[in-house]
Amino acid sequence: MQIKANADLSHYHTFSIPQTCAYLVKAHCVDDLKAIYQNPDWVSLPKLVLGRGSNMLFTQAYQGVVILNRLQGKTVTETDTAWHLHIAGGEDWPSLVKWSVEQGYAGLENLALIPGCCGSAPIQNIGAYGTELQDVCEYVDVLDLEDFTVQRLSAESCQFGYRDSIFKRELQGKVIITAIGLKLNKAWQANIEYGPLRALTIKGEQHHSTAGISANDIFQRVCQVRIEKLPDPEKVGNAGSFFKNPIISMPHFERLKAQFPNIVAYPADDQMKVAAGWLIDQCQLKGFTVGGAQVHPKQALVLINANQASADDVVNLAAHIRDSVYQRYQIKLEHEVRFMGALAETNLDTILEQRQ
Ligand code: FAD
Ligand code: EPU
Repeated sequence: MQIKANADLSHYHTFSIPQTCAYLVKAHCVDDLKAIYQNPDWVSLPKLVLGRGSNMLFTQAYQGVVILNRLQGKTVTETDTAWHLHIAGGEDWPSLVKWSVEQGYAGLENLALIPGCCGSAPIQNIGAYGTELQDVCEYVDVLDLEDFTVQRLSAESCQFGYRDSIFKRELQGKVIITAIGLKLNKAWQANIEYGPLRALTIKGEQHHSTAGISANDIFQRVCQVRIEKLPDPEKVGNAGSFFKNPIISMPHFERLKAQFPNIVAYPADDQMKVAAGWLIDQCQLKGFTVGGAQVHPKQALVLINANQASADDVVNLAAHIRDSVYQRYQIKLEHEVRFMGALAETNLDTILEQRQ
């Protein structure tokens, strides 16, 4: 195992903000993970498992051990009705999606180009273009950090929700995801309900039809839309949508709709999910800058490291956005991006309270 002391994390998270950790280590197998957690020198240090760091903001120098999940391997088994993919947690998600479409295993195409590792995908139940991980997830294998056994959790027991799962709640810090199991039904149906995919409907058809559309067509279209809309972290630091799309009560929505007739929102059970990008955009914040951090000039839900931003710049920008949106719409945005402090996970409220 390679171990680096006092390592720079710039290349290990997609905001690419310089920040250090006490130790950086790569884990290639479950035994590596066990050895790291049982290392007597590190027992008292906090530990953080990282995939590609594409949903992370390090708000301070991290005083613990950062463990890069590099567990590799994938196997496919086939039944009459489905392909079952077993994927090690350190495999790259976008590469998996591309490979599966090339192999003819349809079902992951809407989730193309979401950066990160496969083992991170269940944590916030990654989703895009009308599909979420929960639609294809069969099970999640985890290393239990109390007894160091590997256990299999059914998809149902993962309690998936919108950008949510048991791994962000009861099991946070208690397990490491070592592998995921995906079930891709052979009776595949194209999912082109999400706005930009509707254009895939075959030209000339009077009614909405998915006939003749392949998984590869959807894959190509999703890649094209994402490349147009979202900044590439290789070129400009960012962590995708910074905030979640807020879910508000119907009466609250009706009040806002009366005042702002163009508000963009979608039904979510008996509530409404509002487009946070629209809210931020309407506050005229596209391009708004604090230090080196900026609201992306084309997609207001994405905050970027435009010019050597510090973590504080991003935090201050996020606080300004949240205040502006609250004042105008009485909606308190929650950040999707995970904040890691010196010793433990933190959040915007805690950081602002600590400053007072
Ligand atoms: P990391 O950022 O490394 O980790 C995220 C969290 O999971 C951390 O708390 C970490 O400690 C924990 N963790 C990581 N691995 C493990 C493990 N094996 N076991 C236990 N805990 C672990 N997300 C979407 O849902 N939809 C999108 O469309 C989308 N688009 C994006 C576009 C861009 C340009 C970017 C930069 C991000 C986007 N995201 C999107 C967010 C991000 O891609 C996902 O959250 C992704 O799953 C993060 O994977 P990661 O490996 O980088 O996780
Ligand atoms: N909008 C604006 N101005 C903006 C940005 C968006 O008016 O600056 C409006 C758009 O016109 C559209 C609506 O807001 O009507 C929604 O925008 P978009 O389709 O781009 O999706 P989003 O809500 O911004 C969500 C996810 C993305 C995911 C896309 C596609 C969240 C928090 N974000 O973004 O996920 O890729 O839908 O499904 O749910 C991520 O989680 O990191 C992420 C990128």
